[in-house]
Amino acid sequence: MVKIRVPISEHRDASYDIRIGRGLLAELPELVRAACPAARYAVITDSHIGKLYGEQVVTRLHDATLPAELFEFPAGEWNKTRETWAALSDRMLARQFGRDCAVLALGGGVVGDVAGFVAATYLRGVPYVQVPTSLLAMIDSAIGGKTGVDVPAGKNLLGAFHQPRLVIADLDVLTSLPAVQVAAGVAEAVKHGVIADADYVAFLERECRAVQAKDAGALEHVVSRSVEIKAEVVAADEREAGRRATLNFGHTVGHAVEATAKFAVLHGEAIAIGMACEARLAEALEIAERGTADRIRGVLEGYGLPLALPEPAAVDDLIAAMQLDKKARAGTVRFALPRAIGAMHRDGKTGWTVAAPEALVRQVLAGSPGKQ
Ligand SMILES: NC(=O)c1ccc[n+]([C@@H]2O[C@H](COP(=O)([O-])OP(=O)(O)OC[C@H]3O[C@@H](n4cnc5c(N)ncnc54)[C@H](O)[C@@H]3O)[C@@H](O)[C@H]2O)c1
Ligand SMILES: [Zn+2]
Repeated sequence: MVKIRVPISEHRDASYDIRIGRGLLAELPELVRAACPAARYAVITDSHIGKLYGEQVVTRLHDATLPAELFEFPAGEWNKTRETWAALSDRMLARQFGRDCAVLALGGGVVGDVAGFVAATYLRGVPYVQVPTSLLAMIDSAIGGKTGVDVPAGKNLLGAFHQPRLVIADLDVLTSLPAVQVAAGVAEAVKHGVIADADYVAFLERECRAVQAKDAGALEHVVSRSVEIKAEVVAADEREAGRRATLNFGHTVGHAVEATAKFAVLHGEAIAIGMACEARLAEALEIAERGTADRIRGVLEGYGLPLALPEPAAVDDLIAAMQLDKKARAGTVRFALPRAIGAMHRDGKTGWTVAAPEALVRQVLAGSPGKQ
């Protein structure tokens, strides 16, 4: 088992471990008892994972004398809403869960974000444990303490920072993860490589077949290397103001694609498209070395990820979606861009992100990489 610690320096008690290994669900009760003791556990999951692992987890907790109840909601990004958050909270209140309870988020990024937000707000906040089951959740969404829901105005616009007490990534659960979801997770892994580690990008290129075949060693390397990078960037954010913004590479365009595609595109697919576009933008702005965009496109393509905007996507709609995001952030549309594979651009004046002229963004989107 690999153990990686996420240090939270402003509040040392808030630091937590990420456990990565095989067969960890069997050890879950003891890990949870040690890191997140509670009188009762609300195991929150979605309808897919509930069937696969929900009962198993609740039974294991019971067998270890830890009282637990399962709370399921229908799977799908379109259910990452205030309504789901409210329904789960109401059901926990009806079952009289008290301040001495804790939440277990068992599932992909959607479950992690909603269940984390329930934990952040339930009776003004109760502790929680992330048990990510998708590759994307293991390497990205379960770490960093961002929780929340989507609203009609945009993705993740309501939420809270709430750090988990522990993250348990059992690699065995990836055996049931559909291939398209594995690829969607790899998109975030490519992002981690581009922002911090050229060798890791080379690994993802070289071991494409092994990762796609869910080879145990390959997946373990992907999960641990990505977790290390994300944990490092999140921790470094406090020292190098704003470095966390580099994790947004591919997400300015990606979120706009998600918003306009109305859930027809997975999050990981949308950010693959986003990275392909933003890497082009970085070259157009002469921020990135030539060839950077082609290399990024190549690795994403190898995993069967889309690079072109989804068919009816109109440039005007995408720009409007980015502007909406901008209003939410009370600033201009900004991009976190690579200067090379493994290194992000940083400017003494503007920090880790740059504003790009709208005309240039339009040009890059209109010449959507896949159309060439
Ligand atoms: N909080 C953050 O920092 C952060 C970071 C990145 C992404 N996110 C969010 O994460 C979400 C995307 O996460 P996701 O890609 O995990 O989506 P998801 O949670 O919808 O999971 C994808 C699908 O796979 C299924 N699934 C998950 N694990 C499975 C398993 N082991 N076996 C079989 N099926 C399984 C789910 O039921 C779902 O149908 C987005 O909402 C995104 O905004 C949050
Ligand atoms: Zn993402």
